[in-house]
Amino acid sequence: MADIGPVPLAVLPTPLQELARLRQALGGPRLLVKRDDLTGLGLGGNKVRKLEYLVADARAQGAHTLITAGAPQSNHARQTAAAAARCGLGCVLVLGPIAPTSITGNLLLNTLFGARIRWAGARDPFAVMDEVAAEERAAGRVPYIIPYGGSNAVGAAGYLHAMGELKRQLEEQGETLNHIVVASGSGGTQAGMVVGARAYGLPTQILGVSIAQEAPALRRKVFDLALLTAAHHGVPFDLTPEAIDVNADYTGAGYGHMGAPEREAIRLVAATEGLLLDPVYTGRAMAGLIDLIRRGAFADDETVLFWHTGGAPALFAYAEALTAP
Ligand SMILES: Cc1ncc(COP(=O)(O)O)c(C=O)c1O
Repeated sequence: MADIGPVPLAVLPTPLQELARLRQALGGPRLLVKRDDLTGLGLGGNKVRKLEYLVADARAQGAHTLITAGAPQSNHARQTAAAAARCGLGCVLVLGPIAPTSITGNLLLNTLFGARIRWAGARDPFAVMDEVAAEERAAGRVPYIIPYGGSNAVGAAGYLHAMGELKRQLEEQGETLNHIVVASGSGGTQAGMVVGARAYGLPTQILGVSIAQEAPALRRKVFDLALLTAAHHGVPFDLTPEAIDVNADYTGAGYGHMGAPEREAIRLVAATEGLLLDPVYTGRAMAGLIDLIRRGAFADDETVLFWHTGGAPALFAYAEALTAP
């Protein structure tokens, strides 16, 4: 299948920076951060890279309306709403299960971007998305459904090509890498990176810190999506599922439940680097990285890159839990 060129939505390349003060606080390996929280559109994050390809595909199909689904504080939903606004498309967000009492964080931004919100309640969000798509068609508009997290072979192209961007930056800055650590939820970011590492020749470990799923399920999901992505974009792919690195030791009380490890990670990184993580994804992935460093999982002469995938707008929805003593 032909690779449709991206619609430019993101501010690229995102900065590659050193976290020297965080390293000082933790000891252990050299730490770098790839600032995909700074992709720009609608307060940024990893979905903007995926949406560059998804919106291009939507346009190629003559779509008028983007439809996607997520949790009430979904970063993906917020970035999709921003992309729709930027491109003059309609946007319907199927969120669920129910509306929270306070409209803050990502949910507030969705309304500013003009997205229509449909609460799924107890219903399957995919069935609700299909229903919305039928309504759009009946109104004479062409709908384009984006799966959870923008994670399909089209969206994953954003991270396939992000690896080319990273490789160029490493060369320019004279850096070498041993490990990438990234939050892995719907798996599209990690799958794209895995394929991109093959496509651009960047031999580094890519460790996905699971946000919610157990390791075998996440590994399978990332592998299957990497296979599809490689086939879709014509990248030779010879990996086995065992070659996909995931760690599911940090899922805590489950999706969206911020606990003590995430809170410590958010506070430490904010206080040492002036850098904001988020309560659901990057806070959890960083809590995992901090624990691995404390356990001596990395040698002092290694370099670990934390790929910041955004999400800080959700901090405001967790204000009470973040400020509790
Ligand atoms: C801030 C943030 N980081 C990481 C992820 C996980 O990315 P993926 O769903 O591609 O695994 C998400 C997904 O929603 C996110 O919002």
